[in-house]
Amino acid sequence: MSKRFDLSGKVALVTGASSGLGAHFARCLTGAGAAVVLAARRADRLASLQAELSQQGATVSAVDLDVQSGTSIAAALDAAGPLDIVVNNAGISIVKPALQMPEEDWDAVVNTNLRGAWLVAQGAAKRWVADKRPGAIVNIASILGLRTIGQVAPYNASKAGLIHLTRALAMEWARHDIRVNAICPGYIETEMNGPFWKTPGGQRLIERIPQRRIGQPEHLDGALLLLASEAGSFMTGSVVTVDGGHTVNSL
Ligand SMILES: NC(=O)c1ccc[n+]([C@@H]2O[C@H](COP(=O)([O-])OP(=O)(O)OC[C@H]3O[C@@H](n4cnc5c(N)ncnc54)[C@H](OP(=O)(O)O)[C@@H]3O)[C@@H](O)[C@H]2O)c1
Repeated sequence: MSKRFDLSGKVALVTGASSGLGAHFARCLTGAGAAVVLAARRADRLASLQAELSQQGATVSAVDLDVQSGTSIAAALDAAGPLDIVVNNAGISIVKPALQMPEEDWDAVVNTNLRGAWLVAQGAAKRWVADKRPGAIVNIASILGLRTIGQVAPYNASKAGLIHLTRALAMEWARHDIRVNAICPGYIETEMNGPFWKTPGGQRLIERIPQRRIGQPEHLDGALLLLASEAGSFMTGSVVTVDGGHTVNSL
């Protein structure tokens, strides 16, 4: 691996590290040499990932984090200690037609995916500025922040908001040597959605992806390591789509 992708000596916080992509990102970052702080609400899941990675020789800690709570975010950032990289990955979706979407579902999705990412980014950046320390933030958005599908209006809106927030923070914080970028994954197979891709509905969806296949978590590694490392040092405000061509399919 080129030295510019090497994360030895760096400390990365991954939110939503208890499952799916977040757990994979933690494995990817430790594989590149970073120490990782795992953060989420399910402490048991974090503990088993921490044990797995520690056994492989990685430096890993775990902190309780509920991104819907500013108090929890501040406590988690204090417990994490000095960071170099923040991966804003925690996210949820609630599937309902927009006409029937209750206020509390909107709040849960937007407060997790957008407000939560904002508060984590702001908390990390305040600490970096105070310590005169550079930093890199990687926001995990979605192709649904660029295009839309039905029944997930708050999710679509939250991810579009996260993409534009990425640009706004990149502009304001460049002077502090803080880079802020986003990844827009397409459909990636994880433990939660795995069975869906084998159904007729899942197969029909795959037919609409130019590469005719679903993404695997490893397909995001290149973008993550680029944006988190020295290799991406002239990148800020970038939005990197990793989707097998899904967003450029034929209209
Ligand atoms: N999989 C895909 O195809 C895909 C595509 C595009 C974008 N994404 C994005 O990738 C990210 C990860 O998705 P995933 O597929 O890996 O889903 P997942 O397996 O459901 O993981 C979501 C993670 O977010 C955490 N989380 C949720 N609410 C939280 C809260 N209030 N505070 C702290 N952590 C919270 C969960 O941890 P706890 O429940 O333990 O707190 C969990 O670790 C999300 O932002 C998602 O929008 C996924």
